Amino acid sequence: MKIAVGNDHAGLPLMKTLKEYLRARGHELVDHGTDSEDSVDYPDYAHEVAASVSSGKADLGLLVCGTGIGMSIAANRHPGVRAALCADGYMARMARMHNFANVLCMGARVLGPGVAMEILDVFLHTPFEGGRHERRVEKLEPKP
Ligand code: RB5
Repeated sequence: MKIAVGNDHAGLPLMKTLKEYLRARGHELVDHGTDSEDSVDYPDYAHEVAASVSSGKADLGLLVCGTGIGMSIAANRHPGVRAALCADGYMARMARMHNFANVLCMGARVLGPGVAMEILDVFLHTPFEGGRHERRVEKLEPKP
């Protein structure tokens, strides 16, 4: 899978672990950074990853900041992007099954690496359930 990834300074340590995890499983990463510990503005990275998913350049997106909140707010402003902030495997499973989420957001100051990898794994391997959720997901986009 082609996965766009982005993080701010707070998300950097966790993202390093998650990128290794993804590469080891054969995923192609489009890395939007940051790769530095210098303080940066999380929306800059969220918008790049969200644009990549919105345009179809990437299949999925992964965003990590301190809480995951700012990243999810910014990413969800892009058409066709359904960014889900997940704190456990259940949320990740539901985000895929019911909401057909295409961007996973996590908080590096909230989660340990083990839980974060489990969330990522569930997110990548859970399919959309479809059925009644199809209609609901369509309704997520505001009417023009
Ligand atoms: C950075 O200090 C922090 O505000 C950011 O990583 C994130 O948690 C924002 O939602």
